[in-house]
Amino acid sequence: MEMQSIEWSLAGKTEFFLGRGLLKSPLWIEKIRSISTRIALITDETVAELYGRILSQQLGAHLFTIPPGEKSKTREWKAQLEDQMIERGLGRDTVLVALGGGVVTDLSGFIAATFCRGIPFVSIPTTLVGMVDASIGGKVGVNTEKGKNLIGAFYSPHSLFIDLSLLDSLSIKEIQNGLSEIIKYGLIANPSLLSETVTMEMRVREGIKIKCKVIKHDPYEKGMRRILNFGHTVGHALEIASKHKLSHGEAIAIGMVVEGTLSGIDTAPFFKPFDIPLRWPKSIEVSEVLSALERDKKARAGKARFVLLDEIGKPRSFEGAYCTEVPLQRVEEALYSYPYC
Ligand code: GLY
Repeated sequence: MEMQSIEWSLAGKTEFFLGRGLLKSPLWIEKIRSISTRIALITDETVAELYGRILSQQLGAHLFTIPPGEKSKTREWKAQLEDQMIERGLGRDTVLVALGGGVVTDLSGFIAATFCRGIPFVSIPTTLVGMVDASIGGKVGVNTEKGKNLIGAFYSPHSLFIDLSLLDSLSIKEIQNGLSEIIKYGLIANPSLLSETVTMEMRVREGIKIKCKVIKHDPYEKGMRRILNFGHTVGHALEIASKHKLSHGEAIAIGMVVEGTLSGIDTAPFFKPFDIPLRWPKSIEVSEVLSALERDKKARAGKARFVLLDEIGKPRSFEGAYCTEVPLQRVEEALYSYPYC
């Protein structure tokens, strides 16, 4: 099993464990119990059935579950879980373990950031998106009806356990969801990830490496970290406009095609070999996407900002801001001329 520390410029270090069969070794239990023996484990109902119940028993943890899916990533669920933790007598000496995909790790991390003014947080991602993106980099938070991740914090996990064998049980849809983020890494940083011949394990390792390098450079998204949002300005707006019927991976894939158009680059061919659907859902009006764009976190005075590419593998710097406003007319043109309807 590999172990490394990710250094953060302001928020200490995250211990990072990566390997196949990691959760079958006693090490992860010993590591968590060495932080505290009072443990809360949050997962969703699907993951609870697959691994959560058994792992929480092995760990000696209090188990808390939420319904699966983006709809649970809310302030209401945060409050409910906090109340349940308080009712069980958990306090400042608790370590909070998140076991699941991005919804579970983002929501749990935000709870850890504020529970008793902050308790140690351990992340165990079970999805491909979770492994290569959501669990790395300390962004935690919840959605509101108006926008994705509008309420949140930067809060680094104390430790992160990535068991690559969990990938074997993921559905094709889940794999495609994560592949969109890996293609993003190919488009913004390492074009070799766009090749079909790279193995999944290599993709995950390289994706993690790219994300760690970017966040080490710019943990609080003052500039370069914004490159990780390529495709996400339009993607998040689509997720909101679809009321989360579109998965994150599907939405950002369409987003990367639209933001590719804004960059003058056709990115669609890179998604085809991986069977990632690029179809624009009939139920979504362009006007709904345009109004959701105004509320994007990166927007300034209601004007959305976009990450653009100079070429494949090279985001445009905009003097270190790594994002820019684009005239509304060009955004509308790119959305109305989207070819996969
Ligand atoms: N998912 C984008 C970031 O972590 O910055």
